[in-house]
Amino acid sequence: MALTDHNSYHPAKGLTTSEAEFIDLARSNGELYIAQPYELYSVENHDSWRKLFSRMQGRWGEYANEHFLHGIESLCLDPERVPRLDEVNRFLEPLTRFKAKPVSGYVPAFKFFDCLRNREFPTTITIRRSDRLDYLPEPDIFHDIAGHVPMHTDPAFADALVRFGDCAHTAAEIVLDIADENEKLRRLTSIIRAMARFFWFTIEFGLMNSQHGLKVYGSGLLSSFGEIRHCIESREVQRYPIQLEWVINQSFEIDHYQPLLFYVDSFAHLFDLVDELESWMRSGRLDNVAPGEPGVNEEDLRSFLVAS
Ligand SMILES: [Fe+2]
Repeated sequence: MALTDHNSYHPAKGLTTSEAEFIDLARSNGELYIAQPYELYSVENHDSWRKLFSRMQGRWGEYANEHFLHGIESLCLDPERVPRLDEVNRFLEPLTRFKAKPVSGYVPAFKFFDCLRNREFPTTITIRRSDRLDYLPEPDIFHDIAGHVPMHTDPAFADALVRFGDCAHTAAEIVLDIADENEKLRRLTSIIRAMARFFWFTIEFGLMNSQHGLKVYGSGLLSSFGEIRHCIESREVQRYPIQLEWVINQSFEIDHYQPLLFYVDSFAHLFDLVDELESWMRSGRLDNVAPGEPGVNEEDLRSFLVAS
């Protein structure tokens, strides 16, 4: 695949979320998997990273689970500069064979899960503006590298992610056998919704039981200065032991702190839940999950249909 020629960009334009011309061009050229044009990061971009990273230190120590704390240490991230993905991978790959793979933006559902199966994590390379550190509807490199990737250093967590990637292949196989097109789309929509909800309430917003109370392992929480504390301390949050039947039928909204969270006992527990999710998928128990968020778009559906 031809990669975008980034030599024509002025470094001052930077790689800021929603403002990066490099990303716009890559997307308009249909380039999903890209290189990380490190020289394009601006002074402001590095400043965002420094601020985000430094203010999270204390909060991670207080609220993050031990596997994350160990993981972020093993990655040797520079607190002052946006990380180079190649360098991150030099530390990550020997541990679990996972690696961060730079992408230009949204990865359709099947492709995303398939990357996990191959131990590749689609990673956003842009970073939020330094004057808007708190609210960001889309992922950025801080969320992906400081929130997700430290978890990928843990072998048990990495195995659960790979197992989740297997489920996407199972889903593609299942719908292949459905002759009626409308029924195929209806069931696939329901299965993708169930998978997205499971991913949300575990990988993105999961909590874990520990000897020291509930700790955070979900990346949406690990990368949020406000919510990592709120999710543990606030009386406004309901926290329950995870139940598969609940999670797959539970809607969520992405634009505010989560009012409902679920905790697992361990990553072995998480792995078993993914196994169970797959067996429910095979027996048809994901074919009629409760309607509601998240929406499943045409691109997500097509990504499964093309794969099957
Ligand atoms: Fe995420």
